[in-house]
Amino acid sequence: MEAIIELEGIQKSFGDNTVLKDVNLTVNKGENVVVLGKSGQGKSVTIKCIVGLLTQDAGSLKVLGEEVKDLGEDELKELRTKVGFLFQSGALYDSMTVKENLAFPLQRVLKIRDESEISSRTMEVLEAVGLQDAIDKMPSDLSGGMRKRMGLARTLIVRPEIILYDEPTTGLDSITSREISQLILDIQKKYNTTSIIITHDMSCARITANRIVIMNEGKFIAEGSYEELEKSDDEFIRSFFN
Ligand SMILES: Nc1ncnc2c1ncn2[C@@H]1O[C@H](COP(=O)(O)OP(=O)(O)OP(=O)(O)O)[C@@H](O)[C@H]1O
Ligand SMILES: [Mg+2]
Repeated sequence: MEAIIELEGIQKSFGDNTVLKDVNLTVNKGENVVVLGKSGQGKSVTIKCIVGLLTQDAGSLKVLGEEVKDLGEDELKELRTKVGFLFQSGALYDSMTVKENLAFPLQRVLKIRDESEISSRTMEVLEAVGLQDAIDKMPSDLSGGMRKRMGLARTLIVRPEIILYDEPTTGLDSITSREISQLILDIQKKYNTTSIIITHDMSCARITANRIVIMNEGKFIAEGSYEELEKSDDEFIRSFFN
């Protein structure tokens, strides 16, 4: 098994608020790891450290074999083309159509100029997320679920090796949540991506996880499959599954 993301002894504080005390996690190639944890435990801070938006105070954090804190600006940029980060809001450009929103990262990040390649990759990702009919729509004309799909399409179009999902189903009805969860699973299978999925949605966790880790008070306190953790002897761990 090839380790794609490796966190060892990660610590992170903001002033006197120690958020991450000792975070250890290895994610292997092609694996979907779901992170559970109560609000404010440091889940989002952990994935922000992975993409280099935040830097840990101590510990080693390697992505695709590279120690992220040692990367220069250009190397960090290069790494970010391999790591897709799905923000909760989808972060779409409201003045651009769906098609333009998708072409933008190809032109800007990957410097692709060939119109036919842009067009074929746009169609491919729209098909992958089931949004072919929305190609000429403005983001403001999309529903919440469609915006999530669109955010996913925009993450996918640069073909990242790693996708980090921060609460991909929050704010969606249960049917749409299930569709998005299924989509996350389909993407893993189709592109062999490696993912970390932060969620409070247990149906999303059940559908997408190869492995679940539980974060509490700045550490991972448990790991296992959905079925294993659901039957844990520890009442706190079981409480996530009720
Ligand atoms: N940039 C920052 N500056 C200062 N404090 C921060 C910053 N980012 C996060 N924190 C603090 O770190 C702690 C953990 O935040 P984080 O966003 O990781 O929680 P979370 O586990 O993702 O919670 P939720 O499930 O509610 O999203 C919180 O106390 C938060 O206030
Ligand atoms: Mg969070």
